[in-house]
Amino acid sequence: MPEIIIAPSILSADFRRLEEQVEAVVAGGANWIHCDVMDGHFVPNISFGPMIVAAVRKVTELPLDTHLMISRPEQYVQPFRDAGADRLIVHAEATVHLHRLVDQIKRAGMLAGVAINPATPLQAVEEILPDVDLVLIMTVNPGFGGQAFIANMLDKVRRLKRLCETRQAFPHIEVDGGIDETTAIGAVKAGANVLVAGSSIFSQSDPAQAVRRLRKAAESAAALVV
Ligand code: DX5
Ligand code: ZN
Repeated sequence: MPEIIIAPSILSADFRRLEEQVEAVVAGGANWIHCDVMDGHFVPNISFGPMIVAAVRKVTELPLDTHLMISRPEQYVQPFRDAGADRLIVHAEATVHLHRLVDQIKRAGMLAGVAINPATPLQAVEEILPDVDLVLIMTVNPGFGGQAFIANMLDKVRRLKRLCETRQAFPHIEVDGGIDETTAIGAVKAGANVLVAGSSIFSQSDPAQAVRRLRKAAESAAALVV
């Protein structure tokens, strides 16, 4: 049974009380904290940068899974390292030299992940599989929390899982966008083991309980995976 990792996205948190919100999901058993960085250029929205990552770093020792939805990510590796990020996830679409960027992230002392948008084919990550510790399959178009899960992405997750087996490379398979207690089941059955969830956790009055419920749903699906 694959180990399930729950990574709440603070994008949907109440930023007036960010510390309290992070502490709530930690208390609920979150494994990682997902930080969504948006620049208004690679995606149509602007969120936050290294300062907020540094603030979250002061609240928890959980790994900070930092998702860069920005253009020219190579210019921001060190600032996010300095802010305390543990993993940088970069979009294959955002750089011409993905291998060089992954190497740069690892040399800076972080784990490296690669993300692809819904319309980007898996071939974009095939050659980098042995070099990354995580592949993120976007299950919405990046830019906003609270969007509907794109069900067609389940087949992409299945194909990625098979591709990893063929290539004998075993990165985490993360899904991000529209994940709740229902969509998590299909994603885990398809082969995902890391679930990012923003609005389904932080729109609840009890985010800790929401994390527990999401884990329960995901783990019951994982028990069916051989
Ligand atoms: C989407 C971000 C996601 C987002 C997920 O652009 O990468 O991490 O916060 O939010 P929900 O879970 O609300 O779809
Ligand atoms: Zn994200």
